[in-house]
Amino acid sequence: MLPRARIFLVFILGISCSLSLCHGDDTVVPQHLDPTPFGKEFPSLDGWATGQWWTKPSAGGNEPTQPSGGKKKKRRRPPVPFQIDAPRDEVIAFAIYTVTVPPGKPTASTLKLSAQLFPLKPGESNQVRLEVDRGTGWTEIGKATVNYPGWDASFRIPEWDATTSVPYRVRHGKNAEFTGVIRPDPAEKNEISVAVMSCNSSRTPGQREALINGLKEADPDLLFFAGDQTYRHTEHTIGWLEFGLQFRDIIRDRPAVTIPDDHDVGQGNLWGAGGGKASTSAGDTGGYFYPTSYVNMVQRQQTSHLPDPVDPAPVKGDIGVYFTRLIVGGVDFAILEDRKFKTGPNGTIPKMGPRADHINDPAYDRSAIDVPGLKLLGQRQLDFLKSWAHDWKGVRSKAALSQTAFCGAVHLHGNPDNRLLADLDCNGWPQTGRNKALRLLKEAGAVHLCGDQHLAVVVQHGIDEFRDGPWSFTSPALVNTIYGRWWHPEDEHAGTNPIAGSPLPWTGDYEDGLGNKITMAAYANPEDRNDETKRADGYGITRFEFDKQEIVFQCFPRFTTQGADGAPKQFPGWPVTVPLEGPPKD
Ligand SMILES: [Fe+2]
Repeated sequence: MLPRARIFLVFILGISCSLSLCHGDDTVVPQHLDPTPFGKEFPSLDGWATGQWWTKPSAGGNEPTQPSGGKKKKRRRPPVPFQIDAPRDEVIAFAIYTVTVPPGKPTASTLKLSAQLFPLKPGESNQVRLEVDRGTGWTEIGKATVNYPGWDASFRIPEWDATTSVPYRVRHGKNAEFTGVIRPDPAEKNEISVAVMSCNSSRTPGQREALINGLKEADPDLLFFAGDQTYRHTEHTIGWLEFGLQFRDIIRDRPAVTIPDDHDVGQGNLWGAGGGKASTSAGDTGGYFYPTSYVNMVQRQQTSHLPDPVDPAPVKGDIGVYFTRLIVGGVDFAILEDRKFKTGPNGTIPKMGPRADHINDPAYDRSAIDVPGLKLLGQRQLDFLKSWAHDWKGVRSKAALSQTAFCGAVHLHGNPDNRLLADLDCNGWPQTGRNKALRLLKEAGAVHLCGDQHLAVVVQHGIDEFRDGPWSFTSPALVNTIYGRWWHPEDEHAGTNPIAGSPLPWTGDYEDGLGNKITMAAYANPEDRNDETKRADGYGITRFEFDKQEIVFQCFPRFTTQGADGAPKQFPGWPVTVPLEGPPKD
């Protein structure tokens, strides 16, 4: 245990004491902010929030003239979303938290909360304070130093009493504060609900009123943002701030899980290859394209508030890991990193088409790309899942959370004329790794919740046979001005054993383009990509209903309308109800 504890200490120090703010006068932002904190090779990375950021045109919310980061040629990107030089009494943009409750000991919980600030200026305080009011007035319970680069700060409060609702505020300087509520753990509720969301297009700036209104009405116990919280690639700090400003009114008063996906770390796709170095931002050689310092900043901003990692040793290149476990109201969530250990396709499998990750030849040999030695979740996460599957202390149900789906439940990609057989970006490949992961989820009695695909589906996975694996819900994109996808079998036939009574024509048993068995229960295709009300943007709500021993997958359009019963209408074919499984019999 000792080496592991030491690694964890290094991890924590890395979070709380990154770079220059920890040197010199440690209570104020230093006069000199490194203009290239990610190295000379990437001089513009996170440029809107680094160096003398306040002197740049972007500080006022204007279009910048600087090129995008990296060696790649300049490309079009969305304009600065807001005035980066914020009024100083509004400099704390948002806070995000989770509470880890040890089974049976809610008063010995751990609160982890991160505050995200707008960029600060030299001479300003770099300290933020966390205060709570347990009925006797505001009391300071923690102080944290704001990191540079990144402008985030993290609190870890042990011995947290999770039995009552507690108002909190994060404060900076004299006048800036951000308020919210730490909810009690909903251990006594008969139903626990989790919102499942992903893919929040940066091409559509501005507020998310319709989504926030729908989510407030659903009032989930947990928020899960599965990735692509921002598509700003080389400007993660501003993208993350933008995401926070859009969602802070639901994030501020309930626990939230955010895990970064490919676009959050600035890549088109991501096969992390255990932390290798990708040769392009397309990522298909495996590894990360941007420097470790950038990747770790992204991970720190998005995941510092998660429970401590269960196996914290960094991967190659000193990239941190965050896979972990969070129990909310007795629902035990395994939070996975399905990109980090996965092998890239370029150079590791026979080439089957114009792109290393796309296959279109219907005659290709499915097993030829399932080369021995390819990794999906990696041994460390498989080991974690194995022990997690059998640990049911204080647990009423289980779910795995990760970025993407363990199948390719998509036929049309990008536009309705572009049919693609297999996309190796999904967790349907490598098939052996897919089946290993699904066997463990089935053993755990868990469902799987994810995003990434820009196409909402509920499937039951088949491992050896149809319908012998876990159920899985892929969320729609929150705002999909990025990439449309459709479920549309080429022969337009229903699968074997279609879902009785479904209004959807193509449900039932199918093989995906990788030869994986799936049973399609529901999907939400875009009707019209040019009309935001018909683009199938939206969010999922998964309800763990303990009275009925059922799990209900609901899926709502971004712009909800009222149904005949007065409740918000779901996409046709939803909800999907599946049995809530108990612990393994061992
Ligand atoms: Fe996405």
